[in-house]
Amino acid sequence: MADIIENFPFEIRDFESKESEIVEKSFNGFMNKFVRIGPKGYSAPKLYLKYAASIYNMPLRPRDTVVATYQRSGTTMTQELVWLIAKDFDYETAKSTVLIQRYQFVEMPMFMDIKAIEAIGKQYTGEKAEEISKFCSTFQMLPVEILAKTPDPRFIKTHLPLSFLPPSLLDTTKVVYVARDPRDVAVSSYHHSKLFVQMGYNSDFKHFWSLFTGGLFTFTPYFEHVKEAWEKRHHPNLLFLFYEDLRKDLPANIRRIAKFLGKEPSEEQILGLCDHMKIDNFKNNKAVNLEDMRVLGLLSEGEQFIRRGKSGGWRDYFDEEMTKQAESWIIENLRNTDLRFPSMQDIQI
Ligand code: A3P
Repeated sequence: MADIIENFPFEIRDFESKESEIVEKSFNGFMNKFVRIGPKGYSAPKLYLKYAASIYNMPLRPRDTVVATYQRSGTTMTQELVWLIAKDFDYETAKSTVLIQRYQFVEMPMFMDIKAIEAIGKQYTGEKAEEISKFCSTFQMLPVEILAKTPDPRFIKTHLPLSFLPPSLLDTTKVVYVARDPRDVAVSSYHHSKLFVQMGYNSDFKHFWSLFTGGLFTFTPYFEHVKEAWEKRHHPNLLFLFYEDLRKDLPANIRRIAKFLGKEPSEEQILGLCDHMKIDNFKNNKAVNLEDMRVLGLLSEGEQFIRRGKSGGWRDYFDEEMTKQAESWIIENLRNTDLRFPSMQDIQI
């Protein structure tokens, strides 16, 4: 049945019962009830509906910068790049302040079952109980409420499709959108879904790929998400980047981001930033690697938030049949567009 919520212009439909059954079986965590939203049929956890209207209507300001991506497309590295360039390379603050405090991640509350985390906290006494309580207290206010009290310049992170953000977005603020080869996005999202205890993905990659391409994973259909931003790529307030380009030529992309933000870093500053962004440095950087969540027991052992940082790592996960099927899926989705990924030159579209 279609439904609507106040001040949010999209129709909401429940998942088909067969679809719900598949998703509920695949995730042990709390975030396994889904709906479909709007004409593109984006799938979203039901919990998102609690926040959809407040995000859609959040007041934006001219000095805001938004980093928007489909998840696992290089958000974290782009956030760090944007923040450091905008803040004139203030490494001291960057290293001492976790990203989640430097950026408001607007739909973040839907990923956190704070009541369950508080319950975990009650099992402990002493330092760990205090840490958990401190972590939970940062969720007392919604990110959009925190934003309202944050002085300029404000930094915003989101994995929402652009159409779920305020319609004034590009007329008001700067947006950096990053896209990545969906095969690598899927592999990275698969690990990410196992990393978070509260998501608790319980099957293999092959099944995950079927969820991802079948519109049964958060904010898929993937290509619709990317196409929304691609269509706006000539807007002066939107910078469209590919993860593969960031990996291939970071200095050139730092210059592009800097120009977009109206900054002129020196060559020395650019080289310094490239060093800061090296994957091994990033893995050990507690301001970006979610170490604080690991300490609280929210992340699974054996999985990492900052992982391989490679382009084309998907090849280790796809057998021949999946590779062919992925190519057909890519061709079908790109055929009538001029969207081309740097990593897909071998695919005839
Ligand atoms: P992999 O899982 O393929 O390694 P997001 O920040 O959007 O969640 O994206 C996460 C992906 O970006 C992960 O990909 C992660 O390892 C990669 N990544 C994070 N920091 C990086 C860096 N400094 N350089 C290259 N890749 C990075």
